[in-house]
Amino acid sequence: MSVSLPNRKHKAVAAFAAGLVFLVALAGIRHISPPSESTPAVQNIDPNMVPLVTGDEPIQELFVRAGCPVCHQIPGIAGAKGQVGPPLWLGKTGASRLADPEYKGQAQTVREYIVESVVSPGTYVVPGFPSDTMPTWYGRKLSGAALNKIASYLEQAVEAPPSGRP
Ligand code: HEC
Repeated sequence: MSVSLPNRKHKAVAAFAAGLVFLVALAGIRHISPPSESTPAVQNIDPNMVPLVTGDEPIQELFVRAGCPVCHQIPGIAGAKGQVGPPLWLGKTGASRLADPEYKGQAQTVREYIVESVVSPGTYVVPGFPSDTMPTWYGRKLSGAALNKIASYLEQAVEAPPSGRP
């Protein structure tokens, strides 16, 4: 039949693929999957074990409850030294994400980019980091207030100065 697929069809195919990825990721998180070098921490986070984060928690507790420190370094958050994902100093890196020609998301601001990254991690995968690794269920586990607090914190966050300085 016709040679070129209409754009709509491409979108449908992409949406279907994204759905599949979501299901596979969920299955991977639920059932203890065999250890894989790139995603050592994934199987440690079971969505059923993560309580709803309301946003009333102090910021330190909020991040710890949500499990972000397992995979991310977060300036100012004790124990947040994860190496699976990029360091979350979006005050430094956020603008370059939005400027990346590969970025195809909806966000116009760094703040929106953070929210999008948390609720829809597949929208943009930071180069050099594994896709399908950041959990896809945060939209169900974080209240609007919690997301707001996370975004406010991370949009300001910058690389910590080397320790040991006066
Ligand atoms: C199981 C590991 C894992 C957990 C837990 C996790 N993330 Fe991620 N995250 C990743 C990986 C891997 C990436 C990079 C790939 C991508 O962009 O999807 C990422 C990317 C991000 C980005 C984009 C960063 C950038 O530099 O552009 C943000 C923002 C983010 N995560 C926030 C969070 C927050 C907030 C939490 C907790 C609510 C969290 N993540 C929990 C693995 C994780």
